[in-house]
Amino acid sequence: MSEINGNYGGRITGWGIALGSETITNDDLASRMDTSNEWILERTGIKERRIGGSTAGLAVQAGQDALEMAGCKAEDIDLLILATTTPDDQIPATSGMVQHELGLTCGAMDLNAACSGFVYSLVTGFGFLKLGYKRVLIIGSETLSRVTDWEDRSTAILFGDGAGAVVIEAEEGNGCLLGWNLGCEGSLRDILYAEVGGKIIMAGKEVFRKAVIAMTDSAKSSIAAAGLSSNDISYVIPHQANIRIIESAMKRLGIAENRAVSVLQKTGNTSSASIPIALFKALNDGRVKSGDILLLVGFGAGMTSASAIIQWSESNE
Ligand code: ACO
Repeated sequence: MSEINGNYGGRITGWGIALGSETITNDDLASRMDTSNEWILERTGIKERRIGGSTAGLAVQAGQDALEMAGCKAEDIDLLILATTTPDDQIPATSGMVQHELGLTCGAMDLNAACSGFVYSLVTGFGFLKLGYKRVLIIGSETLSRVTDWEDRSTAILFGDGAGAVVIEAEEGNGCLLGWNLGCEGSLRDILYAEVGGKIIMAGKEVFRKAVIAMTDSAKSSIAAAGLSSNDISYVIPHQANIRIIESAMKRLGIAENRAVSVLQKTGNTSSASIPIALFKALNDGRVKSGDILLLVGFGAGMTSASAIIQWSESNE
């Protein structure tokens, strides 16, 4: 039983990632379809992607590392939220398998908001800390390679498999989440979808255009909700779909491009795993200092969008 306590915020105390075991370079793709390393690099920024594994398997690897870093035992976790748009089974939710493999004893659920799924889950997790839970494990995990049409050069070049996890822990006071925004424009379903059992169909140009607008609008809402301005943002941890989408969004937000963290060069688009993988890079590079303000922002099929403003503090280190 947990007592509702609106005075509790939370902080991130552990993080981990996992990537598909096989590296596929642009040249590998060019040997199978009518494309080239130059075209992919220029239009997307992607050099290679990692594929392989299951959504549950990658989630377990990332989750294990996050638990270890947070110094948590399995029984310390009060809830598992698994963000995924590529579950291993139609029924049951993949989070159940992850809960079992990690030896957790808590409730577990999948959350599908496509590439915005991790930020949706993070905000949801912070809500549960306010409801009285002490620790929530949040994982974004995807095996997009299973729903990619490897004959379609307009989508096959983009996607990869991976997972990223964080543990969030309750603390008295407001915690590190300063502002957030969740959005969805359901009328845009047809520009990016996969039917049950089918492969991804995408109107690339249209997704690109909408993505820049959705990311920018969501980020602006979160920044305003936190009572901040663009100048206050230390680093942007954006969804890793296309370097040109990131550059356009940064320009519209008035934040210098070198403030955006990118990993897509080596991972491709890993959907809900992409933001925690980029966050992992920023944190492990040691560039994030106490007091820094991070803007996590993503968009995805749906069309969903989500952003969160996190203030890093010494207690996170
Ligand atoms: N190699 C070579 N040529 C290609 C390739 C390729 N891999 N793919 C398309 N082309 C060709 C097209 O056929 C077209 O040729 P044409 O002019 O003779 O007709 C030309 O290149 C230009 O195609 P566009 O689609 O206009 O290229 P664009 O610059 O828009 O780039 C891309 C395409 C990379 C897909 C881009 O539109 C994009 O990144 N869109 C957003 C994708 C995205 O973010 N998806 C998010 C998924 S999130 C989720 O929820 C899973």
